[in-house]
Amino acid sequence: MKFLDAIAAEHRLIEAVSGALRTWAGAVGGAGAEPEDGERFMCFFRDFAGGFHHAREEGVLFPALVREAELGADSGPLAALTAQHRAMERALAALAELVAARASGPPLLAAVHGYLRPLGQHIDAEDSVLLPESRTRLMRAGLLELPEVAPDAAAAAARADGERLVARYPGTDDPEGLRGEGCVVCPSFGDTCQGVEREWWSELEWEDFRDRVG
Ligand SMILES: [Fe+2]
Ligand SMILES: [Fe+2]
Repeated sequence: MKFLDAIAAEHRLIEAVSGALRTWAGAVGGAGAEPEDGERFMCFFRDFAGGFHHAREEGVLFPALVREAELGADSGPLAALTAQHRAMERALAALAELVAARASGPPLLAAVHGYLRPLGQHIDAEDSVLLPESRTRLMRAGLLELPEVAPDAAAAAARADGERLVARYPGTDDPEGLRGEGCVVCPSFGDTCQGVEREWWSELEWEDFRDRVG
């Protein structure tokens, strides 16, 4: 499904720009990092990661799962992922204030991690659970494709900025950022969402599972 492939490809770009942001934030205030690039990073995460990528998940993918696969919008994974989008917007707004104030050093890095660590876990949960589940459930409902939405001028400019920033700042990993696969890595697991099996599996799927594991 091209739509889901595009979402996954956008995750790779968001991760690459995340690595570049960590590099920039670690260097800004000294040599090798332009302070003005801070606004470009904020622009990428606000207008591309938020305004285009998250907006398409919420505006196209989640409603299709509710409509076609009869999944709940107000509880479980879709509500959890939507709430994570809102929480990341708040973390990004706090980071953007520091960037606008030309902050550097530990306060800036703390705000960068405060935004990027949940974002990384959110991407992992989507890559390892949401996207494969969406593929299976939408195909089972007979839906082979979702409508693609072209980026508007702001999102297209933000994506181009992001690609330039990746070329300019070699990515830095975050050794303290927990990453992984499955619901256990999701920030909402055990809190507002009890995992895909408990939230989404039908009695038929549980029966099939029991048959397979004996
Ligand atoms: Fe998302
Ligand atoms: Fe996503």
